Amino acid sequence: MSQQPNLLSPEVRANPYPLYARLRREAPVCQVEPRGLWLLTRQEEVLYAFKHPELFSSSGLARAMEAAWMGKAHPLASAMSFADPPRHGRLRGLVQQAFTSTALARLEPFIRSVAEPLAADLAERRQADFIPTFALPLASSVVGHLLGLDTFLFRKVKRWAEDVTGIGAVLPSDMERQAQVRGSMEELTAYLEEAIDARRYRPQEDVVSALLEARLEGEALTQQELLGFLFLLLVAGLETTVLLLGNAMRLLRELPEVLARVRSAPERLPRFIEEVLRYEPPVQGAMRVTTMEVELAGVRIPAGALVMPVVASALRDERHVADGERFDMDRQGPSHMAFGHGIHFCLGAPLARLVVRVGLEGLLPHCGRLGGAPEQVVWSRALAMRGPASLPIEVLPAHQLP
Ligand code: HEM
Repeated sequence: MSQQPNLLSPEVRANPYPLYARLRREAPVCQVEPRGLWLLTRQEEVLYAFKHPELFSSSGLARAMEAAWMGKAHPLASAMSFADPPRHGRLRGLVQQAFTSTALARLEPFIRSVAEPLAADLAERRQADFIPTFALPLASSVVGHLLGLDTFLFRKVKRWAEDVTGIGAVLPSDMERQAQVRGSMEELTAYLEEAIDARRYRPQEDVVSALLEARLEGEALTQQELLGFLFLLLVAGLETTVLLLGNAMRLLRELPEVLARVRSAPERLPRFIEEVLRYEPPVQGAMRVTTMEVELAGVRIPAGALVMPVVASALRDERHVADGERFDMDRQGPSHMAFGHGIHFCLGAPLARLVVRVGLEGLLPHCGRLGGAPEQVVWSRALAMRGPASLPIEVLPAHQLP
């Protein structure tokens, strides 16, 4: 390959799949722009990286959250997404007790109570940007609820998530932005500590209380670990869910025959959501740092390299997925990697599926047909994410269909 492709170029942002297909054929392990990031695009190498955390580490990523101007350690740096075994196993063992199916079942009525009025409002407007009118308020409410925040704070969740993850992009000279990020972190920490304290004295039937009660070999999460995990829920759960809702809606808008099928048989929604996750995964790839030189597919990756196993490419790998470039909701097959694989497999996968199913169940009765021009989609700018940041839609109610 003569020149390194750039993941941030407008063509790749608009449609990265032709590039992934070319890389699978010509250079399945290679470097791209920005910053000479290494990409793994075939299923074998992606799975190999996920199965070998001793070679492809997550703890090496915590450095991206360090900045002298922060004044103290970032709570996320100690969260399990940035931990390797054995520390990762202990943290995960503790927090997954709060994500049982019973806990999720308790969340469903709340999700429905938020989704239904949002759907009715969207239908009434007829024309709207789907992201700020539906996807974002729904996902922010779910995440705010998980964090134990009061309802009036849900509208702040997006800004907090942006500031908490934006540290690496702040210039050393940009004092104003630094002060803003520090302020956001302090504000969020204070609200979360308040939520934790309230439940220490009066436990409720919610995630924060379950986290406080969780024990592994008699040990509980420390206050710092609990705070780190709540920060992680915010950044891992918000944008991903917004983008999955956006990807699902965009596909329903562009594939009217699929919309008609799920409208007439809503029991097919879970199958539709699985195919959206395969075809257009919101998390295109995970990030890892090599702990030593590693040889993969005949290519040597040096120690300390930033590597992205590209799940979005592996999910279309022609050697494993028949006709993978086609959206086909009748596809049967093994469970896929849109939520990662191995020890870091997404803890929120059942919740994400639930939010999107309940959200679409609220929307579909209002949507006889969906309109909106394909070129009006503005894609998310985050390097490893894919989905609309803006998705104008037009809703034609079912009773007005010819
Ligand atoms: C469509 C929505 C979502 C997608 C596509 C998604 C995807 C992923 C992926 C690919 C990973 C693996 C990252 C890695 O290997 O480094 C991951 C990890 C994780 N996700 Fe999700 N996620 C979604 C929603 C959520 C939600 C709603 C939550 C919780 C509220 C959540 C919590 C987590 C956590 C805590 C981890 C880290 C697990 C660990 O390190 O052991 N995710 N997610």
